[in-house]
Amino acid sequence: MTKQNQLIVALDVSSLSEAEKLVKTLSPVVKTFKIGKELFTSAGPEAVKMVHAHKANVFLDLKFHDIPNTVASACEAATRLGVWMMNVHAIGGKSMLFNSVQAVHKTSQELKVPHPKIVGVTVLTSLTDADLKEVGVKGKVKEEVEKLALLVQQCGLDGVVASGQEIELIRKVAGNHFLIVTPGVRPTWAAHGDQKRIITPKEAIEKGADFVVVGRPITQDRDPRVAAEKIIKEME
Ligand code: C5P
Repeated sequence: MTKQNQLIVALDVSSLSEAEKLVKTLSPVVKTFKIGKELFTSAGPEAVKMVHAHKANVFLDLKFHDIPNTVASACEAATRLGVWMMNVHAIGGKSMLFNSVQAVHKTSQELKVPHPKIVGVTVLTSLTDADLKEVGVKGKVKEEVEKLALLVQQCGLDGVVASGQEIELIRKVAGNHFLIVTPGVRPTWAAHGDQKRIITPKEAIEKGADFVVVGRPITQDRDPRVAAEKIIKEME
């Protein structure tokens, strides 16, 4: 896989026009864009279609979490939209995870297209051991991450979203044929913003991440295309 294909740019903006401006500028060097809750809530499937019109891939980051039937139906809808990757919360449980994978695979077979990747979110990086305890989870963050990553793998998902701190642990327990998507990375020359436990994109790849997600260091740079090129170069 080329380093260009390992970079995913987060389109964390609120309007279709802002998103399109970024995609126009970046699509000559960036192949995949992440559409999250903000853009999808304001612009809907049009945002996905816009990225596709620029011949780039979409990671639909809506972190589905609901009863198994509802999440499986949402995953089917995302497959019909033609996204390249989607995600669900591992904490939704075995049936939810298993049914989601089945829906993605069945729908892509029906459409005769390669199946989109489906990855699980283990423990949100915003949560601490104390936060988990407060909501009744007995284990520490690391233990829960490990347990949920294995559940995700058992249910047939393609991989997980994981912070830089968790890459090596997950590689160790889940092996090499399991995708790791790492957000919250920062090149040394970019502002950290609200990201705390950060590593550089280069370190994330060295630790074993398959993809890195970068938002503001690219999208808020004076020249987003140059910033993206610089990050791709550093990853090489
Ligand atoms: O701008 P920045 O590079 O911090 O954006 C990172 C993106 O990855 C955002 O869309 C954010 O929601 C997402 N993300 C994250 N940390 C996680 C999971 C997702 O920063 N643990």
